Amino acid sequence: DADRLQAHFDEVIAHDRRIEPRDWMPDAYRKTLVRQIAQHAHSEIIGMQPEGAWITRAPSLRRKAILFAKVQDEAGHGLYLYAAAETLGVDRADLTRRLIEGRQKYSSIFNYPTLSFADVGVIGWLVDGAAICNQVPLCRSSFGPYARAMVRICKEESFHQRQGYELLLTMMRGTEAQRAMVQDAVDRWWWPSLMMFGPPDEASPNSARSMAWKIKRHSNDELRQRFVDMTVPQAEKLGVTLPDPELRWNAERGRYDFGTPDWDELKRVISGDGPCNEERIERRRRAHEDGAWVREAAAAHAAKQAARRDR
Ligand code: ACO
Repeated sequence: DADRLQAHFDEVIAHDRRIEPRDWMPDAYRKTLVRQIAQHAHSEIIGMQPEGAWITRAPSLRRKAILFAKVQDEAGHGLYLYAAAETLGVDRADLTRRLIEGRQKYSSIFNYPTLSFADVGVIGWLVDGAAICNQVPLCRSSFGPYARAMVRICKEESFHQRQGYELLLTMMRGTEAQRAMVQDAVDRWWWPSLMMFGPPDEASPNSARSMAWKIKRHSNDELRQRFVDMTVPQAEKLGVTLPDPELRWNAERGRYDFGTPDWDELKRVISGDGPCNEERIERRRRAHEDGAWVREAAAAHAAKQAARRDR
């Protein structure tokens, strides 16, 4: 019987069909999905912090409204993703606990500080741009609820990316000081953005299996390359310099060559030792504790409604 179930699973994967929550799946497949989807959800929620810090300091009402909406979208992405994870039999409260206790990861990128308003634009352009490169192929991921959540998330991410680019175009048309702010932000965020794609392929323990299961569709290095190829012309149009002396067009490959990110830095940041790791988790823990009364009230309300229905 186990062989039959495995054979059916293998066939669904081979034919590019979707695995749904009630289908049989290997334990390791389930575990990998919980790991990746939870990490992804945590990233969206923690990712609200660096930009959220600028809501009160946005330079105009228009910019404030845009930033508010964007940060709210991120909360929404986190919620779809936690909901997708829950179809695998885990509990969101437990995932949040694991994040706060440092037992689950979130993206390295959100452990860097946002020092000026130009960072808001650069996060939209580079960080959301990298997220799109990584996530568009996930719309074809083999697990149905994850793939479907990604469709909407990617549409919203594209909008975020454009608002970031538009913000930067505006600043680049401004004063010398504004242009310098944009360049400084690009210098600080470029390499961390490349690290978002994960370690290089030869040091990525999960890639081979996740690709065989069609959870991931492309390797970390392939997606990183696509991001560079997509971004260089945008940087030229914007008039900023990407801080990589090795960056150049390779006519033979038809792609850009680029330098090597500092993989030790990525390791440090993933393992908790980045510039803002402590602050991010502490803030998340506090928000979770401060929100306990809301969760209790909602649960009490739901219980009351259910009791009324049963009467
Ligand atoms: N930040 C934090 N952890 C990372 C990062 C990163 N940038 N890159 C890799 N890791 C972790 C992996 O999670 C894995 O740890 P684990 O085994 O304890 O879970 C370890 O480093 C080794 O990496 P890989 O074997 O390459 O892991 P994986 O195959 O899961 O690939 C990747 C990593 C590319 C991030 C993948 O999980 C993915 O595509 N996730 C979905 C996208 C996502 O989470 N995006 C969040 C940021 S985008 C945004 O929110 C705007």
